[in-house]
Amino acid sequence: MSQKKIFLVLIAVSTVSLLLHHGGHLNLTFEAFGLGCPSSTVSSTQGSSGPSAKHTSVAFLKTHKTASSTVQNILFRFAERNNLTVALPITTCDHQFCYPRPFSAHFVHQHTTPPDIITNHLRFSRAELRRLMPNNTMYITILREPGAMFESLFTYFNQYCLSFKRVPNGSLETFLDHPWSYYRPEEKDSMYARNTLTFDLGGDKDRPSSEAAGYAKRFALEVERVFSLVMIAEYFDESLVLLRRLLSWDLDDVLYVSLNMRTPDSKSSLSSENTAKIRAWNAIDSVLYDYFNASLWRQLSTLGLACVEREVQLLRQSRDRLVRSCFGGHLPPLRSAAQITNKELRPWQPSAKVAIVGYDIPVNLTQKGHIPLRDECLKMIMPEVQYTRLLLRSESLRYRKRYPLRSSQQTSRSVGQVRAHKESPAPSLIPRPSDTMARSTRGALRLSQ
Ligand SMILES: *[C@@H]1O[C@H](CO)[C@@H](O)[C@H](O)[C@H]1NC(C)=O
Ligand SMILES: *[C@@H]1O[C@H](CO)[C@@H](O)[C@H](O)[C@H]1NC(C)=O
Ligand SMILES: *[C@@H]1O[C@H](CO)[C@@H](O)[C@H](O)[C@H]1NC(C)=O
Ligand SMILES: *[C@@H]1O[C@H](CO)[C@@H](O)[C@H](O)[C@H]1NC(C)=O
Ligand SMILES: *[C@@H]1O[C@H](CO)[C@@H](O)[C@H](O)[C@H]1NC(C)=O
Ligand SMILES: *[C@@H]1O[C@H](CO)[C@@H](O)[C@H](O)[C@H]1NC(C)=O
Repeated sequence: MSQKKIFLVLIAVSTVSLLLHHGGHLNLTFEAFGLGCPSSTVSSTQGSSGPSAKHTSVAFLKTHKTASSTVQNILFRFAERNNLTVALPITTCDHQFCYPRPFSAHFVHQHTTPPDIITNHLRFSRAELRRLMPNNTMYITILREPGAMFESLFTYFNQYCLSFKRVPNGSLETFLDHPWSYYRPEEKDSMYARNTLTFDLGGDKDRPSSEAAGYAKRFALEVERVFSLVMIAEYFDESLVLLRRLLSWDLDDVLYVSLNMRTPDSKSSLSSENTAKIRAWNAIDSVLYDYFNASLWRQLSTLGLACVEREVQLLRQSRDRLVRSCFGGHLPPLRSAAQITNKELRPWQPSAKVAIVGYDIPVNLTQKGHIPLRDECLKMIMPEVQYTRLLLRSESLRYRKRYPLRSSQQTSRSVGQVRAHKESPAPSLIPRPSDTMARSTRGALRLSQ
């Protein structure tokens, strides 16, 4: 009996010392198993794909003001590391797929097809995405609590969206007291002013209030049928735990820093009265949110809350390690867009009144050069507009290398079909014999900067 015990203790001790003398991979796996996390192992090493290979076909519906830029950045970096193709908008659509028009496969730049991943802003259309994406695509999106979300939309778009712009003194309270005095459903940017999530998901934001409750329930069920995961911004790291498992990705694949935030002083806290008014005004979004928040927590409970908590801690530790190795200590300072000297890192500003912050690279990190900023570090803090432009450039290069003939033929054809760009011809990256002929018809590939 006691011999048995001693034997077991010896086994345990040598296992622990073995683990302690190994790298991070074993360490993480050990910690995760120690808490009885079911199934998938927590591996921090890239390339060790574990029991099932990483899933690479993902359609992420990027909703507005929901931390979705951070998810997009994770997906962009994953695509680059794994040589995947990200569907990107034609230049006439800007960096969004001609939002708020419903998504059409015609909005996708041909050099970015056939895609593995799509994540730039679009208004959801199941049929059109099905036409474009592989048939094993996982559909994912993210929702945010309607009160905080509406406050954020109201501030962010206060000069951009007419429904908000006509409110005297830019007062959220004034808007909420009589929303119909300011809101015009048919107006161009009205989707930012009511049930934005529903609109982005392809639903009817203006369903009359008598039908809204029933409609919202049916719509939630439909969204649940199509989407494999609906993340919740308030529980972002917990949502990432589910995302990572769904896609069989490594912990390293979902490390991030927050992007596209406002400065703390342009946020205001909401009274419970205003929250209630916002929920009433955005009744369909509110039903969706409550439904999917409950669903998220059911899934987390199934996984085991202790296990989830542990993995969230691991995620944060790994992120801190990455930030240390990238920026030597802590994140680069947050600065308002106007103060950011590096153009590649300056976030888009909806108006002068909202301070969207981004990261600036301290001069001593870049120029004095004792820590050259690695590519993966720069990408982690790069705003979406710049990153989109950069990806289009590299995917175009790859496309032309891969299909030197097809790219000129297809472009000539597609001009007649859908792409009515008025852009000037792009400079040629890879000279081809047919170049002068192709040049006159080639679609918009603007190689800016
Ligand atoms: C194992 O994990 C702990 C806590 O996460 C960390 O402090 C330690 O450095 C790791 N050990 C190795 C060998 O990576
Ligand atoms: C991606 O492509 C590059 C260049 O073609 C190649 O060296 C690299 O091994 C590829 N990586 C993966 C993960 O396939
Ligand atoms: C997916 O598409 C491929 C080829 O387009 C086809 O062979 C396969 O059967 C499809 N799978 C499903 C589940 O529909
Ligand atoms: C707008 O603000 C000014 C000064 O703060 C105040 O006098 C005025 O009553 C406000 N107007 C409305 C409609 O709230
Ligand atoms: C989300 O759901 C959980 C579990 O039901 C609940 O405790 C939490 O308050 C909800 N969060 C929000 C913001 O409604
Ligand atoms: C860069 O400069 C900042 C402020 O001047 C300082 O806090 C930081 O430690 C420096 N970093 C390095 C790597 O020298």
